[in-house]
Formats: sequence, structure tokens, C-alpha cells
Amino acid sequence: MVTSQLLAYAALFFSCVFKASSLDTFIAAVYEHAVVLPNATLTLVSSGEALALMNRNLDLLEGAIISAARQGAHTIVTPEDGIYGWNFTRDSLYPYLEDIPHPQVNWIPCNNPNRFGHAPVQERLSCLAKDNSIYVVANIGDKKPCNASDPQCPRDGRYQYNTDVVFDSQGRLVARYHKHNLFMGEKQFNAPMEPEVVTFNTTFGRFGIFTCFDLLFHEPAVTLVKDFHVDTILFPTAWMNVLPHLSAIEFHSAWAMGMGVNFLAANIHYPPMKMTGSGIYAPDSARAFHYDMKTEEGQLLLSQLESHPSHPAVNWTSYACSVEAPATGNQEFKGIVFFDEYTFVELMEVTANYTVCQKDLCCHLSYQMSEKRTDEVYVLGAFDGLHTVEGQYHLQVCTLLKCKTTDFHTCGDSVAVASTRFEMFSLSGTFGTPYVFPEMLLSEIRLAPGEFQVASDGRLFNLKPTSGPVLTVTLFGRLYEKDWPSNTSSDLLAQTLQIMLAVIILVAYSLLW
Ligand SMILES: *[C@@H]1O[C@H](CO)[C@@H](O)[C@H](O)[C@H]1NC(C)=O
Ligand SMILES: *[C@@H]1O[C@H](CO)[C@@H](O)[C@H](O)[C@H]1NC(C)=O
Ligand SMILES: *[C@@H]1O[C@H](CO)[C@@H](O)[C@H](O)[C@H]1NC(C)=O
Ligand SMILES: *[C@@H]1O[C@H](CO)[C@@H](O)[C@H](O)[C@H]1NC(C)=O
Ligand SMILES: *[C@@H]1O[C@H](CO)[C@@H](O)[C@H](O)[C@H]1NC(C)=O
Ligand SMILES: *[C@@H]1O[C@H](CO)[C@@H](O)[C@H](O)[C@H]1NC(C)=O
Ligand SMILES: *[C@@H]1O[C@H](CO)[C@@H](O)[C@H](O)[C@H]1NC(C)=O
Repeated sequence: MVTSQLLAYAALFFSCVFKASSLDTFIAAVYEHAVVLPNATLTLVSSGEALALMNRNLDLLEGAIISAARQGAHTIVTPEDGIYGWNFTRDSLYPYLEDIPHPQVNWIPCNNPNRFGHAPVQERLSCLAKDNSIYVVANIGDKKPCNASDPQCPRDGRYQYNTDVVFDSQGRLVARYHKHNLFMGEKQFNAPMEPEVVTFNTTFGRFGIFTCFDLLFHEPAVTLVKDFHVDTILFPTAWMNVLPHLSAIEFHSAWAMGMGVNFLAANIHYPPMKMTGSGIYAPDSARAFHYDMKTEEGQLLLSQLESHPSHPAVNWTSYACSVEAPATGNQEFKGIVFFDEYTFVELMEVTANYTVCQKDLCCHLSYQMSEKRTDEVYVLGAFDGLHTVEGQYHLQVCTLLKCKTTDFHTCGDSVAVASTRFEMFSLSGTFGTPYVFPEMLLSEIRLAPGEFQVASDGRLFNLKPTSGPVLTVTLFGRLYEKDWPSNTSSDLLAQTLQIMLAVIILVAYSLLW
């Protein structure tokens, strides 16, 4: 009796302790950082000069980290390339690199700085995390020596990796991620042999991490969500905005919604290269975002998020496949969106229903504009195909967008301002993929949090008249399995058959001899 009572008390005690230590919500911070760039990126500097430049950036990051911690943030994300910039060669980058060990070594650099050689940047980041009791996410460079025993070893005898690191609130290194999908210019880095799937657990949910261009691909981004069930993605980036579909705040918030995760995106602030746009995104809506092409200042964002966000299932084709596509009768025409040829139809009336198709994809739109202006043209567009410029990826896209001018040839060009509001819209498509990212972008590159939703039958629709003029409403689908048409399974089979044939011929010849 006594023992069972004691056990009951103990159970109560432990469940209370457990509850107290696991949080339903947490406060996230991201910092858009105006990086101090080195004066010379193509010539070799001393390690002292490299460290001096990195410390200037760390001074700025320190201000943001302290400010975030004072406001109660549990974690802060800082941008890719945020500590030394970009445009390096392999050699000129070398003085900026540190050897970053695997987190399983259980290391708090702030307490034991020289355990793995000279690592002043890791030490400083670790101390910032520890002294302010906050998880700190940063992007730095890792170097790993190699030699002829490794046939892949680069000629200069080392691997150089674009690397995200996470230090927990005690300063411990808890995550190290080597970027897998390097962007065109990143010749200074190597990609790891295999994509790394990096996660860690906290009292406020499970986290995954990857970098910038990784977002366009299946590995490791989709795997982290689908197979490792992370709640929140940490995303350091140096993202160059591309309108109409790939501006940072637009696409990053859409990915959070499409995948049903929290997404913490910290971008570089460098308007000359169109780098701006950071945010804190939950699956149901953007919670905070920042886009600024006018000033040279960095910006700290904070917002509360659910530790375990829920995400209702969506069947992206359910509605679109039930629609009997009425022949719209309007003139279709072709137009280019970021090097891809779309099929467009102009929205002629103030309110109507339209359908436009390309290959396997049909897009349906119902809409009502506030007014049909004569100085603006909007189109409904469909694209189903392989994008091949600055990366190769297969897309299926349904899009409502504003043309740059009233000349049809400008439909798909970058445009940042519009005048037409929509009372109502509902967009859907016959997608051949479950990976569809719903975008909505208003005039002057603003998001519309809480103004739209995706229904379980795959319709993207507004909940109220748009709060501003519309640049685009888009369902951006990715068919990952069609990214490499040259090595699809049928091609692999053909190759295998060819090899078998060759072997048979070889054997036959050897028997003859
Ligand atoms: C670059 O050079 C200018 C002029 O010499 C100097 O004022 C500035 O501090 C230098 N910047 C860095 C990052 O070293
Ligand atoms: C880096 O290189 C790009 C492309 O070559 C160039 O447009 C840009 O001005 C360079 N940026 C800096 C900061 O040097
Ligand atoms: C070559 O690299 C391997 C793995 O890093 C290491 O174990 C070995 O000692 C190296 N050999 C020489 C000759 O440096
Ligand atoms: C996180 O916790 C889950 C169980 O809740 C476990 O399966 C997983 O391996 C843990 N992940 C890490 C990186 O520790
Ligand atoms: C989605 O809906 C369509 C049409 O109702 C149906 O044929 C399909 O099986 C559904 N897909 C899934 C994954 O449930
Ligand atoms: C568009 O389609 C919807 C649903 O099928 C229908 O209720 C509506 O009347 C149509 N609107 C127009 C302008 O044809
Ligand atoms: C297809 O080839 C590309 C590039 O050669 C490679 O990155 C990719 O992993 C391959 N995909 C499959 C499924 O083998």
C-alpha cells in the first residue's frame, strides 16, 4: 500500500518534472546579417587577417545573439557565408577554415578550446551560446586533410566543406552539416560523398538542418521531414531573389507550408546581389519576415512557434482531377519564366474560371478581381518540365501572375509592384507529386500571412480579400524522381542489359581462343 502510494507520488513527480522540461512552444530568432566582406577574396591572406575579418562579423552576430537571448529566444539562426562572405578560390578560402569534429566527440569548445587544434571561431560561437544560454546556428568552413589512400582526395590534399554548426545552450557542438547541393559558383568547396541527414533533439522539438540551394532537392531536405520527422528546419542561406517564384520569403514560407514544418531562414543582407529576405515560418502561416532592398542594415526577427506543429494531410490532385476542364476558348500563348517555357492564358474578365494545361499538368483557377484594370495584365500559367539553368530540377507549376507590362512578351519577367487586388481566388492542379509548395506574394515583395489556406482537396484559396495588390499566387510542385532523365530505371535496365551482352560476347570470344 505504502509502496504503491510512493510509486504514485514518484510517477506524479517525474511526470511534472518531465512536463516542465518539455516545452509546447518556443521562441525562435533569425538574424539577417549585413556581412562584412573581405577586401580581397582572390588572393591569399594570412590566418591572422582572416581571423580579424571573421571577428568583425562575429562582433555583429554577438550583438544579435545577446539581443535575441534577452528577449527570451531559445535559438537563433545566422546566415550562410555570414562570417567571411563568398567569391573565394579553394586556396584563398583556406585561411578561414577550421577543422570541425563530429558532434559525437561531445565537445564544448568554450570550456576546452584546443582539444581539436586551433579553433577560435568555434570557441567564440560556443561561448556566445553558453554565456547567453541559447542555441546558436552558424555557417563556417570545415577542412579535412586527405591523401592518396583515398582515390577521391582533391589534388591539394584536403576537402573543404560549406558547413553549418549548432551549439546548444551549454555551448556544446550538437550538429555539423556539410552542404550537399553546392550552387554553381561554389568551386571553393567539396560536396560530401553522401548527403548527410543531420538531426538533434531538444526540449522544444526535433530539429533538422540544411543550407540554401539544398532546398530545391530531395536530399537531405525531404528525407529530414518524411523519414526523420523533424519539427523545425534550421536554414542558413545566402539566397539571391528571383521573381516571380523564387524570392526568399516567398519560397521558404511555401516550403514550410507544403512540408508541414517550422522553417527558420536567415539570409545574408546584401542588396547589390539581391540577397535579402529572412523569416520565421510555421506550416499554417509566416510568423515574421523581413525583405529590404533599400537599407544596408541587418535585422533581427523573433517569433513564438509550436514545438510540434501539426500539419493536416492534403491530396494535391483531389479537386483538380474532379473538375471537368471546360475549354476556356481563350487564346493560349507561350512565355518564359526564369528560362522555362510556360503556357499562359490571359484573365480577360473581372471574374471567371479558367483552365490551362501543359503536358501532364492541368491548372484550374476561379477568381474575382476587385476591378479589371486596363493598365495591368494577369495570366494563368502551367509548366511541366525540366528546369536546366543554374541547377537541374523537374517542376510542375500552376501560377497566377502579373505580367511586367501589358505586352504579353513580358509575362513571366520579374516585376515587384502591382495594383490589382483579388476578392477571391482558388487555384488547383493535377500534380504528379505530393511535393507542392503554395506561394502567395503581394506587391513590393510582401507575404500575406493568414490570408490564404490549402484545403484537404488541394485547392489554394484566400480566406478574405487580399490585403494588397497581387504579384503571384502559385502552386510550385517538384518531381524529384524526374530530375535526372538520363538515369531513370529503364535506362539503368538498358545499361545493365548492354553490360550483360558485352560480358557474354567477351566470354564467347575467350572460349573461341
Ligand atoms: C578594406 O579596405 C578599406 C580601405 O583600405 C578599409 O577601410 C577597410 O576596413 C577594409 N575592409 C576590411 C574588411 O578589411
Ligand atoms: C562576386 O562575384 C559575383 C559574380 O561573379 C559578382 O557579381 C559580385 O559582384 C561579386 N561580389 C563581390 C562582393 O565581390
Ligand atoms: C592518409 O590518410 C589516412 C586517413 O586520413 C590516415 O589514416 C593515414 O595516416 C594517412 N597516410 C599518410 C601517409 O599520411
Ligand atoms: C531523437 O529522439 C527520438 C525519439 O524520440 C529518437 O528516435 C532519435 O534517434 C533521437 N534523435 C537524435 C538525433 O538523438
Ligand atoms: C487523391 O485524390 C484522387 C482523386 O480523388 C485519388 O484518385 C487519389 O487516389 C488520391 N491520392 C491519394 C494519395 O490519396
Ligand atoms: C466557376 O466555377 C464555380 C464552381 O464550379 C461555379 O460555382 C462558378 O459559378 C463559376 N464561375 C464563373 C464566373 O463561371
Ligand atoms: C543520376 O545521376 C546524377 C548525376 O550523375 C546523380 O547525382 C544522381 O544521384 C543519379 N540518380 C540516380 C537515381 O541514380
